[in-house]
Amino acid sequence: MVFKPAKWPRKLRSQEWFGGTGRDQIYHRSWMKNQGFPNDLFDGRPVIGILNTWSELTPCNAHLDVLAEKVKHGIYEAGGFPVEVPVFSAAESSFRPTAMMFRNLASMAVEEAIRGQPMDGCVLLVGCDKTTPSLLMGAASTDLPSIVVTGGPMLNGYFRGERVGSGTHLWKFSEAVKAGEMTTEDFLEAEASMSRSAGSCNTMGTASTMASMAEALGMALSGNAAIPAVDSRRRVMAQLSGRRIVQMVKDDLKPSDIMTKQAFENAIRTNGAIGGSTNAVVHLLAVAGRVGVDLTLYDWDRCGRDMATIVNLMPSGKYLMEEFFYAGGLPVVLKHLGDAGLLHKDAITVSGQSVWDEVKDVVNHNDDVILPVEKALTRQGGIAVLRGNLAPKGAVLKPSAASPHLMKHRGRAVVFEDIDDYKAKINDDNLDIDENCVMVLKNCGPKGYPGMAEVGNMGLPPKVLKKGITDMVRVSDARMSGTAYGTVVLHTSPEAAAGGPLAVVRNGDMIELDVAQRRLHLDIPEDELARRLADWAPPADQAEAGYAWLHNAHVEGADTGADLDFLKGCRGAPVGRDSH
Ligand code: FES
Repeated sequence: MVFKPAKWPRKLRSQEWFGGTGRDQIYHRSWMKNQGFPNDLFDGRPVIGILNTWSELTPCNAHLDVLAEKVKHGIYEAGGFPVEVPVFSAAESSFRPTAMMFRNLASMAVEEAIRGQPMDGCVLLVGCDKTTPSLLMGAASTDLPSIVVTGGPMLNGYFRGERVGSGTHLWKFSEAVKAGEMTTEDFLEAEASMSRSAGSCNTMGTASTMASMAEALGMALSGNAAIPAVDSRRRVMAQLSGRRIVQMVKDDLKPSDIMTKQAFENAIRTNGAIGGSTNAVVHLLAVAGRVGVDLTLYDWDRCGRDMATIVNLMPSGKYLMEEFFYAGGLPVVLKHLGDAGLLHKDAITVSGQSVWDEVKDVVNHNDDVILPVEKALTRQGGIAVLRGNLAPKGAVLKPSAASPHLMKHRGRAVVFEDIDDYKAKINDDNLDIDENCVMVLKNCGPKGYPGMAEVGNMGLPPKVLKKGITDMVRVSDARMSGTAYGTVVLHTSPEAAAGGPLAVVRNGDMIELDVAQRRLHLDIPEDELARRLADWAPPADQAEAGYAWLHNAHVEGADTGADLDFLKGCRGAPVGRDSH
């Protein structure tokens, strides 16, 4: 595809607020001038909104104020007018019941912040897991020129000489304490080593995955994803992105020009190659729904099947984002995909160049971090999309994080009706469970939790851990942290709270998982399943008002991205009536 830039100069939408000598324009300019903006900033140059998810309660984004200043420098240098706008920041580490419940709310707030205000283009300043998709979704629904700048990952953590990965080691150490292999005192000492610098999780968790997805989609400048938060090159990237967005506005290079079906296919293949988070599935489906691209779970399986995972990062491998950056970062992965015939090379990026133009000459500086295909962590990376009578609309599993010996497994179901039931029973040594069982967790999907929490990688019972067993098959309608691992079937759809077959699984039922055949089967007679489903009654909705009510009334299934039904699609950014 060849992108044809629009003619420049032309009148921009911000001039509806700032251009002219009418009372309304004087009103808008006058109030802005209380910040000391000179008159010539209102002369028709591109007004760029820096949509900043900075928050002290989003620790992964708490340094974005520094990056915003560098973005502003870049915008001024290129002849634009930067305006910094705080937007809803959905923090993964602290939001309850789960940040995912607020992804759609944040996206709606971002969309309206863009549409209702004098902006011609946007810099999406993001980092922590949900901040990236929520801003991409909001920007996609307005389709104004937009560029992603992520905050970058934390530096490596170390505890007693061992690399400590964000999240990954939290789960590992927690299981070790339960198994009696680590003391609580040591766990507390390790706490401080897990987050030793500004930035997002340093594993290939959801934040790093979504930064990589933004770059693979073409929505960030090449090389953006892996630069550590505190590396000076992160600030250079912010400044260059500020320069670039001004030209994007002049060229009218919009998200819909960049996020095409081909771009999504590039991102899906990239996710397989990096061993990315299963959360990318729901986020990319949701972003595609906003930009009007017909993307389905089937596309994830079709494009991701047999993708070799070549990025040797936790949780699938052993290194962290810092080493990925030193090895060359995502451009090396995209180059590999291109050489292997797995990249739509002519997909356009925010640079105005094709993705192949950006990466064709890059070099891998460490082939133990970015592996040759012969040494791939797994030849079956990507996301396996399972179907069967237990998941008529699909479920997902991340093969690179799973145990090979459990990829084909038949086991007795041990059912937890919800997360409280799980927490009440899991540590009880009288629980009738062993390592061959299949742990089933219900009511943790988009409606059920509500918000689809990251509880699908539920910890194993202590009596199993004490045998030295570290993995069991687990099935739920929940998500899993991108930093987690295990043979974990997630996003089972329809979810239990919406009456999916998961809702009627009982203790003792046999469940069959066959990843190679993409099969998830509840081994009970068809008429028995039908009878149970006919007898099923939905749980009482806990939310009667407020956003929680709105969310549950309108959230769709994980199989289509768990967006709110009335937010899907692109509504553009028409300039509405003035307020005066
Ligand atoms: Fe914010 Fe992981 S918790 S990036």
